[in-house]
Amino acid sequence: MDTYDVAIIPGDGIGPAVTEAALSVLDHLGEMHGFALERSTYDWGTERYLETGSMMPDDGLERLESTDAIFLGAVGHPDVPDHVTLNGLLLPIRKGFDQYVCKRPNVLYEGIESPLRGYSNGDIDLVVYRENTEGEYANIGGREHRGFDHEVAVQSAVFTRSGTERIVRRAFEAADRRDGRLTSITKSNAQAHSMVFWDDVVDEVSEEFANVAVDRLLVDRASMDLVRRPESFDVLVASNLFGDIITDIAGIVTGSLGLAPSGNINPDGTYPSMYEPVHGSAYDIVGENCANPLASVLTGAMLLDDLVGGAVGETLRDGVESLLADPNAPKTPDLGGSASTDDVVAALIDRL
Ligand code: NAI
Ligand code: MG
Repeated sequence: MDTYDVAIIPGDGIGPAVTEAALSVLDHLGEMHGFALERSTYDWGTERYLETGSMMPDDGLERLESTDAIFLGAVGHPDVPDHVTLNGLLLPIRKGFDQYVCKRPNVLYEGIESPLRGYSNGDIDLVVYRENTEGEYANIGGREHRGFDHEVAVQSAVFTRSGTERIVRRAFEAADRRDGRLTSITKSNAQAHSMVFWDDVVDEVSEEFANVAVDRLLVDRASMDLVRRPESFDVLVASNLFGDIITDIAGIVTGSLGLAPSGNINPDGTYPSMYEPVHGSAYDIVGENCANPLASVLTGAMLLDDLVGGAVGETLRDGVESLLADPNAPKTPDLGGSASTDDVVAALIDRL
């Protein structure tokens, strides 16, 4: 049997519930398909921060480095500022392991009602390639003269040639494998340095991909089009901040953030990749056993694609698709149902 070492970081809020739910599905699939995930579970997150002052131990990255993959729930807690939790755990892993591709697919599955009128079964099927290590989330800047009228805050966005080229190239490759359409999202009208540079890189890389047609949209217009005509998108590529924002839009037009998976990928395999749903810790529903586990399950399918290979990830997606398409199958409240997290997991395992 093939075994894989996977570090589990359930995190905060609904993170532990959806992670446990997804892992029970992955374990079940493993029994059926002859693989096993050897889990090491880490209690890193805000509870730890409140007790010890840090989200993870100093040697956190060293402990994770030898694993085959990282599976994370969510981080974020109402009692601690979000920049502390994000910069204490998620961003150090994404940057420290050079997980420069944040890959976020969104499909409007049969049986799911989009908040957009007239959209149904399969009408929306896109994937966002978000730059994940630099851009607007570079931790570079400072704040000075606190409390004075002349207080100043500077937050620098960082765009390197290597960093921009590699995410753009991965997105072109994805477009080449899919429908041959790539949309590059910038704000080149207002940010004439970094974003015009991004446009130039897209131009250069496009010469390697004769079969891919490139569209360029400003992020405000792209946000509108994700609502107005999401079917027009196939592969999108965007900087860290813009990718973050448009993937919440893409997540909700395809039904719910509770269905949106994500992978922080180190394509070279030098470091482990980290798989986590798009959604956060959702404190508004925590403890109610109603969090939709399917975003985490579909995130698990991405992990299986990369780790186990073959058709097993697709088998899991097919199972989710068939569950969602069945009007009698349990659905959580975010999808208009009244089922619990556990009901959905049990029904999915039955179906697999
Ligand atoms: P959120 O994604 O946690 O929630 C947004 C809305 O979607 C809420 O109404 C929530 O109930 C709903 N929702 C999210 N996931 C759901 C699921 N699986 N099932 C059903 N409904 C779901 O975003 P929000 O409210 O902006 O942030 C809450 C906390 O999470 C903050 O502390 C934030 O910093 C953190 N966060 C962490 C992320 C991560 O760990 N990757 C990503 C986004 C936010
Ligand atoms: Mg986000």
